[in-house]
Amino acid sequence: MHDIAVFGAGYIGLVTGACLAQLGHRVTVRDIRPDRVDALRRGEVPIHEPGLGDLIAGNAERLRFTLDAEEALRTAEVAFVCVDTPPSASGDADLSRVWSVVEDLRGAPRLTTVVMKSTVPVGTGDRVRVALDAAGMGHVGYASNPEFTAEGTAVRDFLNPDRIVVGAADQEVAALVARLHRGIDAPVQEVSVASAEMAKMAANALLATKITFINEIAAVCEATGADVEEVAAVVGRDHRLGPHFLKAGLGYGGSCFPKDSRALRAIASNCGLPLPLLGAVIEVNDLQARRAVARVRSELGGLRGRQVALLGLTFKPGTDDMRQAPSAVIAARLLSEGAVVTAWDPMAPELTDTPWNQVERKDDVLAAVADCDAAVIVTEWPELHDVDWGKAAEVMSTPLLFDGRNLLDPADQAGHGFTYMSVGRATARQC
Ligand code: UDX
Repeated sequence: MHDIAVFGAGYIGLVTGACLAQLGHRVTVRDIRPDRVDALRRGEVPIHEPGLGDLIAGNAERLRFTLDAEEALRTAEVAFVCVDTPPSASGDADLSRVWSVVEDLRGAPRLTTVVMKSTVPVGTGDRVRVALDAAGMGHVGYASNPEFTAEGTAVRDFLNPDRIVVGAADQEVAALVARLHRGIDAPVQEVSVASAEMAKMAANALLATKITFINEIAAVCEATGADVEEVAAVVGRDHRLGPHFLKAGLGYGGSCFPKDSRALRAIASNCGLPLPLLGAVIEVNDLQARRAVARVRSELGGLRGRQVALLGLTFKPGTDDMRQAPSAVIAARLLSEGAVVTAWDPMAPELTDTPWNQVERKDDVLAAVADCDAAVIVTEWPELHDVDWGKAAEVMSTPLLFDGRNLLDPADQAGHGFTYMSVGRATARQC
């Protein structure tokens, strides 16, 4: 059992803190937002992440929350850095929050090890090392321990990972970080700090590439009559390729892929390397949501004055996260073409910024699609399987359904009276 301070009570910090407590460690999570710390102290979980609330409640005696860095570090031997690293104007990751945590660590009385969980550019570990040395903390070890957890399954991913990656220059530090994960049944991969930093970015870039690749194939399927779902099923059966991340759709969103792919490209550019493959991935992904709007516009013969419903707003189901959600691009494009936009989502928070201040939210799908000329499935919420689609087709002005996630069956939807468009599959029309 170790005494751990976790800096940052966001998606990564809370999951890390709760899971480390579950593994038996004593954890203090520190955040700078008073509302967040107050809520956590009241037993409320400020983000939606399945299983997290139970884990926090079940480990209450080993888990504390504070605004005060000194309090978090009073007895801590290990500090986990779990703050966000948003993109800066240049595309490089903005590390200001990381540096402010490093500053907070000065003088921590019992600290032996700093563990970086935030996704940081390659070379950050070296710079933190220099900063620690300069602050008189040469005795404090440093490790990079990137996370590979996906939102919606983060607790499960943390406790059942494919591997635990530990990048450290010092064998003792690596062994300590591995020990902190005792109880988790997964291989520990010990690598250099730079390799751990790079592995995280490479993994995300390859996953983003896989998604983008199948989206490109989907466009060719549309033009040639092949069905991307069938193609992906065949391709994915090849054990060298695997079935994952071959789901065609509206492009990847979320807090990681868009940011990390751009950050990796920026790192390469800073070294004078162009990285054309990743550049193409970013470009194709940026087009994907726009292509959906163009296809709806072409089917309707224009969007001015047309009413369009967005079904699902969050970047994926099972989360309330709107970061880099394709829905924002689609809503903004529809509005700028002169369409009227309504929306339904079971979990997205109330949104007041542009374009959402011009979008009317409805509590149920039928209300959202009533009198619409098109409905676009943007997020594959399972609730959409239970919609009475026959009724939906009836209440719409034009029964056009664009399924941006290939969630529904084309023949069924045509049977309900829809003109049903999807990604990489032939448009199905009522006979
Ligand atoms: C991702 C990585 O999976 C995780 O390892 C990393 O730590 C953070 O980034 P997350 O952003 O939570 O996790 O979501 P994920 O489920 O991976 O989906 C990312 C995006 O890709 C979503 O917008 C999703 O809709 C899209 N996607 C995913 C596809 O379009 N097709 C697929 O086949 C898979």
